[in-house]
Amino acid sequence: MSSLRLPLVAPIVQAPLGVCDGPRLAAAVSRAGGLGTLTFCAPSVEVTRVRLARLRTLTHRPVLLAFTAEWEKEQVLELCLEQGFRHFQVFWWNGPRLIRRIHAGGGVALWQVGTDGQVEEALHHGADGLVLQGTEAGGQVRSPHTLDDFIPRVRTSVGPAFPLVAGGGLATRSDVQAALARGADAALLGTRFLLTEEALAPRVHKYRLLRAQSHQLELDTRLVGQWPCSPRRRLPTATLPDTPSLYAGEGLSRMHELPTAAAVVRRLSAGL
Ligand SMILES: Cc1cc2nc3c(=O)[nH]c(=O)nc-3n(C[C@H](O)[C@H](O)[C@H](O)COP(=O)(O)O)c2cc1C
Repeated sequence: MSSLRLPLVAPIVQAPLGVCDGPRLAAAVSRAGGLGTLTFCAPSVEVTRVRLARLRTLTHRPVLLAFTAEWEKEQVLELCLEQGFRHFQVFWWNGPRLIRRIHAGGGVALWQVGTDGQVEEALHHGADGLVLQGTEAGGQVRSPHTLDDFIPRVRTSVGPAFPLVAGGGLATRSDVQAALARGADAALLGTRFLLTEEALAPRVHKYRLLRAQSHQLELDTRLVGQWPCSPRRRLPTATLPDTPSLYAGEGLSRMHELPTAAAVVRRLSAGL
């Protein structure tokens, strides 16, 4: 059984947003009492050093470091541990290799899953917590299950004390409340944090998404983008090929403004 306690004041976790997150967004979410996330996709040691240093100038609160590539240099993870970071997100394709090193360095691993088989595998390898993705998610969609079905099923199989973070299509405080009521310990939101002041996306794309409706989104199944390729929920465009800053989940229609990340954390968690 995991002894991980999620480092949260508010039960809100910012999802990995690839090139659209960054130290400023992650720090703002963590400073506001949620858990911010910074994506690392096979960076060099030097780039990692610069991003971690920037993060530390902005906050000393825990931030989740999400490793999304197939392979990371040993020195990148060692550097994160050396710099005092202890919370990592891994996936089915890199978790089996990374988790031993994370544990050896005193870290904890949240493991993203989208199927029952992946849940079993994550537990078998010693995951400290699970990140459940529902099929309503924006960006890379790796789950066939609706969030409403997936959360209670996984909660029943892992027991009451195992840390579960869950998201996909969440937008509002009542969405968060519903995910918690179904058995999640914290809600994961990606699109909601993409549509904040701090996210690294062109402002024109943020406003384009804000004007769009969920039914306009499409699941792009072309084999493009980073390995491992997966369908991506996004706003279609006539000319741009694969544009992460136009990825969005099914909660999009319930987002109407571009607040700061701290305001999002406050609104989503008020009174919870
Ligand atoms: C703009 C954007 C970029 C994303 N980039 C990645 C990524 O690089 N790797 C990944 O595994 N998931 C990525 N995702 C998926 C998120 O980690 C998360 O599963 C999803 O945002 C949750 O659904 P929601 O957007 O409806 O809240 C991205 C999502 C968005 C919206």
